[in-house]
Amino acid sequence: MTHVVVVRDEREGGEAAAAIIADRIEARPDTVLGIATGSTPLTTWAALAERGLDLSRTRAFALDEYLGLPPGHPQSFEAVVAREVTAPLGLDPALVQVPAANGDDPDLAASQYERSIVAAGGIDVQVLGIGRNGHLAFNEPGTPLDAPTHVAVLSAATRSDNARFFGAPDEVPTRAITQGLGTIARAGTLLLLAFGSRKATALAAALEGPIGAPLPASVIRRHPDAIVIADTDAAALIAKRVPA
Ligand code: GLP
Repeated sequence: MTHVVVVRDEREGGEAAAAIIADRIEARPDTVLGIATGSTPLTTWAALAERGLDLSRTRAFALDEYLGLPPGHPQSFEAVVAREVTAPLGLDPALVQVPAANGDDPDLAASQYERSIVAAGGIDVQVLGIGRNGHLAFNEPGTPLDAPTHVAVLSAATRSDNARFFGAPDEVPTRAITQGLGTIARAGTLLLLAFGSRKATALAAALEGPIGAPLPASVIRRHPDAIVIADTDAAALIAKRVPA
């Protein structure tokens, strides 16, 4: 069941998402949280931090990590998660995992990451954004819907969209380790956030188009507990709207 909630703006969207996450953590302090990076979840992290919950037992797994950045690069997701999530939310850094991207065998690192998620009992709530081309994490169009954590080659559109975080377009990595669509689908709850008109086409395709590899985000419609929180701009092309 995919439940779609339309909100006025990303601030309201972040508060709605934070309320869902907070309820889960209050019920189970050692909840396993899945962390998306990018701009979309920032209002959620801010709203969650404002609640002042004790998140010291909450465990977390990042969705993905670039390959090829030098250790400690400020735009590595290890650095982004530490800066934007772990520190502001008061998570225990020892309980926050990001794919190991600096080894000499990224495929091995990907399979080890998949195993660490399984060993943690799986992800309870996976926060997701959506790419303009309908990607989830770094699962680009064409990725099998049952893929495990793996090494992905980033599309030109994805590299272009993420260039804003780097000094120059050619500094954006070409590959990443990403949780697969199969990995994401095994989470207990999917919480997909979409804000802004740039996401309207991808979100409408994900919710109303064919379910399949050409539109990776469509996989959420197969999930038993998927919640979409979108602002009015991102929801503009969705025919069947559920008011907030
Ligand atoms: C990247 C990330 C995704 C994210 C997407 C959208 O590709 N790997 O997890 O959802 O960008 O980013 P933003 O939220 O900045 O639009």
